[in-house]
Amino acid sequence: MSNKMWGGRFATGPDAIMEEINASIGFDQRLFRQDIAGSIAHATMLAETGILTQEDRDAIVAGLNEVLAEIESGSFTFSRALEDIHMNVESRLREKIGDAAGRLHTARSRNDQVATDFKLYIRDTIDTLVMQVHTLQLALVTKAEDEAQTIMPGFTHLQSAQPVTFGHHLLAYVEMLGRDAGRLLDARKRLNESPLGSAALAGTPYPINRERTAEQLGFDRPTANSLDAVSDRDFILETLAAASICAMHLSRFAEEMVIWSSAQFGFVRLSDKFTTGSSIMPQKRNPDAAELVRAKIGRILGALTSLIVVMKGLPLAYSKDMQEDKEVAFDALDALSLSLAAMTGMVGDMVPNRERMRVSAAAGFSTATDIADWLVRELNIPFRDAHHITGQIVALAEQKNCGLEGLTIEDFKFIDQRIDSRIHKVLTVEASVAARQSYGGTAPANVLIQAARWKTILTGEAHDPKPLQKKKHGGHGDGGVE
Ligand code: ARG
Repeated sequence: MSNKMWGGRFATGPDAIMEEINASIGFDQRLFRQDIAGSIAHATMLAETGILTQEDRDAIVAGLNEVLAEIESGSFTFSRALEDIHMNVESRLREKIGDAAGRLHTARSRNDQVATDFKLYIRDTIDTLVMQVHTLQLALVTKAEDEAQTIMPGFTHLQSAQPVTFGHHLLAYVEMLGRDAGRLLDARKRLNESPLGSAALAGTPYPINRERTAEQLGFDRPTANSLDAVSDRDFILETLAAASICAMHLSRFAEEMVIWSSAQFGFVRLSDKFTTGSSIMPQKRNPDAAELVRAKIGRILGALTSLIVVMKGLPLAYSKDMQEDKEVAFDALDALSLSLAAMTGMVGDMVPNRERMRVSAAAGFSTATDIADWLVRELNIPFRDAHHITGQIVALAEQKNCGLEGLTIEDFKFIDQRIDSRIHKVLTVEASVAARQSYGGTAPANVLIQAARWKTILTGEAHDPKPLQKKKHGGHGDGGVE
C-alpha cells in the first residue's frame, strides 16, 4: 500500500521506491563483458596466490563463461531486485555452480569492481571513438585532395575575407580532429591503472597480487591508493571533456554544412541519405543530420556538467552518488559515436558546387589584400600606405559597380601613377590562393602536401586503436596522433 501523505504518484510502498531509485541494472547491464572479464582475472589471481583452490577457480571461470553466453544470446533474465550487474552475474553464477560462487567476492568489493568495470568500458569506448575519428579524418583528407584546387571564399566575421581552397578548409577540421583523438588517447593513458583489489576502500588482508589482475586486464599497473581508486571518476570526466571538445568541433562543421547547403550559398549538395524533405514545402531538402550533429554537444557537455557536479563535494571514499556516472556517460559517448558516423557519411556524400564557390570567392573584393601585397613587393611601398591606396582602389571599383578584375589600367593609374599592368595578374582568386604558399597556407600545392602527410599518418594507424608512436614530419607536430 502506498503512503497516504505522498503516495499518490506511487502504486507501491517505500520498499519498491527504494528499489527503483537504488537499482542500476537497467543501465549498468551494458558492463557485463567487463564485469565478467574482471571476475575471471580476479578468480585466476586468487587461485595463483592460494586464496582459492584451482577447482573452485575453474568452476567459477566455466560458470562465468556460461553466464556471458546467456547474456550475449539474450536468454539471461536481469533482476532489479539484484540491483546491479555485479550481483546479477554473481547470483546466476551461484545458481550454476553453487557455493564456489560465494568465494569469488573474496578480497574485493563492488566498489573496486565497478571502478574496474567502468574503466575497462571507457577504455574500449575511447578505442572505438579514436578509430571513428580517424575514419572521419580519412574521409576529409580524401575530399581535400579532390578539392585542393577548388576556390571558395574564406571568411572572418562570416564576411568575405580572402579566397581559400576548399581542400584547405576541410583540412582545418582534420587538424582539430587530430587533437581530439590525441585528447582521448591522453585520457586513456591516465586511466589505465587497475582499481581491482582496492576492495571497499582500505585494501584487503588477503595476500593478493594486484599486478597480476592488472596485467590480465591490460592495465599498465595497479592504482597506488585504495581510497583514490574507489573514489576516482576523473577518467570519465576527462573522457567527457575530450568528447565535448570533439562534439564542439563537429558542431562547428555541421553548422558550416547547414550554411553551405542553403539555397543562398549553394556551395555543397548533401545527399538524399542525410537530408529530409518537408511535408508541406516540396522544394525543401533539410540538412537534418547536420543539424542534429550540431545539437549533440548539448547532451555531451551536459553529461560532463552533470557528473562534475555529482562529484563535487563528495567525501572519500565511495558514495552511491557515483552510480549517477553511468547513464550520462553512456548517453554522451553514444551520441558522439553517432555524430562521428553521421559526419563521415555526410562528408563522403557531399558534392561541392565548384563554380558557385569560385564566383562567390571573387565577390566582395576578396583579392584586395593581394593588391596591397603587390604594391609592397613590386613598388616597395610601405604596407600601411599600400593598404590606404588599395582602399581607394576598392572604393573606385565600388563606384564603378565592378569587381577588382573589372578595373582598367587607367583606373589604377588614376589612383596611383606608379601602378602598371602587371597588377592584373594578382587580381584573380586563382593567383591569390596559389601565392599563399607559406607553411600552413591555403595554396593548392600545400593542401596536397598536407593531405599526403595525413594519409600516411592515418592509414598507418587506422587499424590500430592503441596509442600510437610519434612520427617525425619535419619537426611539425602530428596533431595528437601519437
Ligand atoms: N551499482 C553501483 C555503482 O554503480 C555499484 C557499487 C555499489 N557499491 C556499494 N557499496 N553499494 O556505483
